[in-house]
Amino acid sequence: MNSLKHRLGFVICILISCISFAQRPDDASEKLLPLIPMPKELKVSSDEFTMSNKTKIVLSNEKFRPEIKYFNEYLKKNYGFELPIISEMPTDGNYLMITQPDFDAGFVEKYDLTMNQNQILIVAEGNAGLFYGLQTLIQLLPLEKANELKLPCAQIRDSPRFQWRGMHLDCSRHFFTKAEVKTYIDYLTLYKFNVFHWHLVDDQGWRIEIKKYPLLTSIGSKRKETIVGKPKWDKDGKPSKDDKYDATPYGGYYTQEDIKEVVVYAMARHITVVPEIEMPGHSLAALAAYPQYSCTGGPFETYTKWGVSDDVYCAGNDSTFFFLQNILSEVVELFPGNYVHIGGDECLKDRWNACAKCKKRIVDEKLKDENELQSYFVTRIEKYLNSKGKQMIGWDEILDGGLAPNAAVMSWRGTKGGIVAAREKHKVVMTPGNPCYFDHYQSKDKVKEPLAIGGFNPLDSVYAYNPLPKVLTPEEANFVLGAQGNVWTEYITDFSKVQYMSMPRMAALSEALWTPIERKNYKNFVMRLKLHSKTLDKMNVNYARHFLTQK
Ligand code: ACM
Ligand code: ZN
Repeated sequence: MNSLKHRLGFVICILISCISFAQRPDDASEKLLPLIPMPKELKVSSDEFTMSNKTKIVLSNEKFRPEIKYFNEYLKKNYGFELPIISEMPTDGNYLMITQPDFDAGFVEKYDLTMNQNQILIVAEGNAGLFYGLQTLIQLLPLEKANELKLPCAQIRDSPRFQWRGMHLDCSRHFFTKAEVKTYIDYLTLYKFNVFHWHLVDDQGWRIEIKKYPLLTSIGSKRKETIVGKPKWDKDGKPSKDDKYDATPYGGYYTQEDIKEVVVYAMARHITVVPEIEMPGHSLAALAAYPQYSCTGGPFETYTKWGVSDDVYCAGNDSTFFFLQNILSEVVELFPGNYVHIGGDECLKDRWNACAKCKKRIVDEKLKDENELQSYFVTRIEKYLNSKGKQMIGWDEILDGGLAPNAAVMSWRGTKGGIVAAREKHKVVMTPGNPCYFDHYQSKDKVKEPLAIGGFNPLDSVYAYNPLPKVLTPEEANFVLGAQGNVWTEYITDFSKVQYMSMPRMAALSEALWTPIERKNYKNFVMRLKLHSKTLDKMNVNYARHFLTQK
């Protein structure tokens, strides 16, 4: 193995020293490769590498076997063959060599990919880096099935700009099957996202099995009907009698076995699943099942229309906290990642203002008002999550009344909350409605576009997004972990529309999160997207096609 290492070192030096990475993405002389997100450094050569079942994988470190297995499974599924794995340099034929750098690269998501007609070399320190190198290689594979696959050769040095590259999916307003969720994760995989934010709980449906509280799913996962289109309101603020409802009962949930399967699926793709369990608002589905944890005692029904329910968890009742802690004790066992998202957004305070227990809590805890009561609520839950070794993240309303000591903030009402939190030395994920909400329109032609929540977030705005607000100092900016695209599903009733709303905006966001700013170029992105769209066609993705006619 020593002599292999010696020879590997020699090969790496020769290959890397020959490369100059002067190329920019707007360089018209360079052959366009269908790579999204654009790598940090890229040089294309005119060589081709021919991959066949005779191409060997040279694996010098067993720790990389899971990623190699993933790659071979991908080849088998798409091309009908896989590559033999060996641990010594082959004496004949071409090969794909996986190795670690001699030096400490210090960045687990980094990889170098060096290709010529005889060999492909991926140098990565971490498994994630290797995985991303293989994803890049996958994007270079031809689409047609053949025994010999011709790949254009490139030299790439790559690592992401941000450590939180997230996509969210609301599975409460509409339920998406385990298979659909895995397919969504496949899209994240394509573009090197590393966080899947799974919105599992809301007023309109509780979607995660909790063994201790079976009514959460037997009652809370169901709603008797669903509003059709947008809710209307009378002049006095009451729901309009003109609202129409689809009387078909609606429901669905994930068993704990389903959740484990999805988490393992994501993990194999270097994607962490962040579950969201909403509190203290957006909780009507849970209260329909367990009304004793509300201020009024109920009874309630799982919400059948869109919007925010007045009824929320009672913050004055200790048993509410025990209930939520028992739920979270099961949740933390299912999701191995660091973060648990507790929502925290849009909690109406009317019930708290009228509740003797909530008022008593404000007095007992010497709180100023109901905003500080929300802060008390969130901080108490944070203490519990921290005791379980987890970090809490919540929507930017968790800043109201004072931020819990260790909480991370997801800034959705613009970037203000994120800026405040970063200045308070709290971690931040940027997801401002504009341009990170993919439930917004992507064209101004509202006649042709399917119903969306409102707003206008076209592909070029998403592409142009810079998650680092200019007002932050470099030190403050260090607290911005990255950004995320959110797919809320009030008006997204099936998975085909999830595809339409998220693709290709997800691809544009991936480049905003991965590629250095100076390498971004929208025109070049659209040209690459046109090539890449053939892959989406092959995957049967119902992507939005506005970019195809864009000049
Ligand atoms: C949110 O969109 N209510 C976080
Ligand atoms: Zn109360």
